[in-house]
Amino acid sequence: MRLFFALWPDASTARQLAQLAGCLTIGARGRLVNPRNYHATLAFVGEVSALKLAVLQQIGRSLRAAPFTLICDSTEYWPRPKVVVALAREAPLGLLDLWARLHDAIALPRTELHTHVTLARKVAQAPVLQAMSPLVWQVASFSLVRSETGGVESAYTVLDTWPLLYTRENH
Ligand code: 2AM
Repeated sequence: MRLFFALWPDASTARQLAQLAGCLTIGARGRLVNPRNYHATLAFVGEVSALKLAVLQQIGRSLRAAPFTLICDSTEYWPRPKVVVALAREAPLGLLDLWARLHDAIALPRTELHTHVTLARKVAQAPVLQAMSPLVWQVASFSLVRSETGGVESAYTVLDTWPLLYTRENH
């Protein structure tokens, strides 16, 4: 199974992202991502065995990180994957902390962090993108998600969600 850790937006944030996506001109072949599938990947684990799933769940459960506010403040077209994304240009400290701890726990290299939500795929040409009003996302949890490709659109199943909480260690 293919797994990744992600931030799943609350209903209001998803609605605002969908509004933004609705204003995009994505061409005949472009596909808007279903708002139910909106997410920001924190750590892409990839293909793992059922045994590893339990390890990842344990990592998620034992991770102590604080909640944070994510400001999505830009839309961008990325020509190589042919996607339009909503991007958080600044990484708040809480996000950096969660991201670093997760990567260390699952022994993934800390590469660059470009926190984004993919709004549209298969966009062949760069659309004209308007400046967007910053969208404020209060991030209070993170999830372990399973991705199944093969259909028209990837199917995602949230396997577990853990709250982000202030503790004596991270406050
Ligand atoms: P994307 O939204 O930019 O396409 C599930 O596939 C999630 O993991 C998607 O959010 C996808 O990002 C991301 N993803 C897929 N393959 C990846 C890879 N090799 N490295 C990092 N992220 C990846």
